[in-house]
Amino acid sequence: MSKRTVLTGITTTGTPHLGNYVGAIKPAIQASRGDGIQSCYFLADYHALIKCRDPEIVQRSTLEIAATWLALGLDTDKAIFYRQSDIPEISELTWLLTCITAKGLMNRAHAYKAAVQENLEKGEDADFGIAMGLFSYPILMAADILMFNANDVPVGRDQVQHLEMARDIAQRFNHHFGQHFVLPEAVVDDKVSVLPGQDGRKMSKSYNNSIPLWLPEKKLRKAIMKIVTNSLEPGEPKQTEDSTLYAIYSAFASAEQREAMKQAYADGIGWGDAKQQCFELINSELAEARSRYEELMSNPVKIESVLQQGAERAREITIPFIKQLRSAVGIRSLANIKV
Ligand code: TRP
Repeated sequence: MSKRTVLTGITTTGTPHLGNYVGAIKPAIQASRGDGIQSCYFLADYHALIKCRDPEIVQRSTLEIAATWLALGLDTDKAIFYRQSDIPEISELTWLLTCITAKGLMNRAHAYKAAVQENLEKGEDADFGIAMGLFSYPILMAADILMFNANDVPVGRDQVQHLEMARDIAQRFNHHFGQHFVLPEAVVDDKVSVLPGQDGRKMSKSYNNSIPLWLPEKKLRKAIMKIVTNSLEPGEPKQTEDSTLYAIYSAFASAEQREAMKQAYADGIGWGDAKQQCFELINSELAEARSRYEELMSNPVKIESVLQQGAERAREITIPFIKQLRSAVGIRSLANIKV
């Protein structure tokens, strides 16, 4: 039986934080170790251009995110790990798909609708500041996925609509031009925790509540000390249910550690102590990878070469497939046409 293909991309617009690690990177690396799957993980730098006009940030973030996956132990002999922009067949497929995608389908995309809504609320023109890249974003994402005939696409809940659109686009293409694409499925794992940030809301760069993954030890400790708690004193029993600190601790803890911490809360552990334990737990999980990360960051040439090798493997799939797709739509050599 052939392996299932699992594919996911990370937009290269920021520095990875603990939430990205717990919610996406760690589970993806774990999944890639399984035998029954071929995983394809990529740096979505074309997607980055939609939100970010600063070339230095795009490049820097690409480096940081690549170094992160490698430092955390992604096995690039097993997983295919590449940068989107190294695969020109993806942009070519984007156009083939753009030509068959209904504009009305794109009009319904949440991200685009939210941008329009925001304009209208401010009394601006509906399309103010909205680039075609934002509007067509789901088509590029569909090309990422369909190019590799991915079966399963692990994503956050906010991306489920994009997967539905990718299926819709694939079906339309298959209907017109024959059976070329597998219909992909979104995989939203409810067991994977959505990590809260320092203020208790979902950890996100845009809320300014995130803890960068690779802070040096002292700064990591400081960041954890800033997690918002309440004014209960040491000795007073505390609740775990609505505790941000407990949620963050739990995301890194074993079942036994969680139980023990629950008991400690009930017994009135002081917030300072609980934070120190949280720091120690997270730090012990990350310390080794952190030194690998620092080493990788000082050797960008090495990372570039890993990505080039990944691109080569990816293109063993994409080059023949785009040839098939070009032919399917009628972009063909004239030499062997029947006259
Ligand atoms: N749009 C995704 C995000 O912002 C990133 C992404 C781009 C992606 N292409 C993809 C995810 C293909 C899964 C599959 O999170």
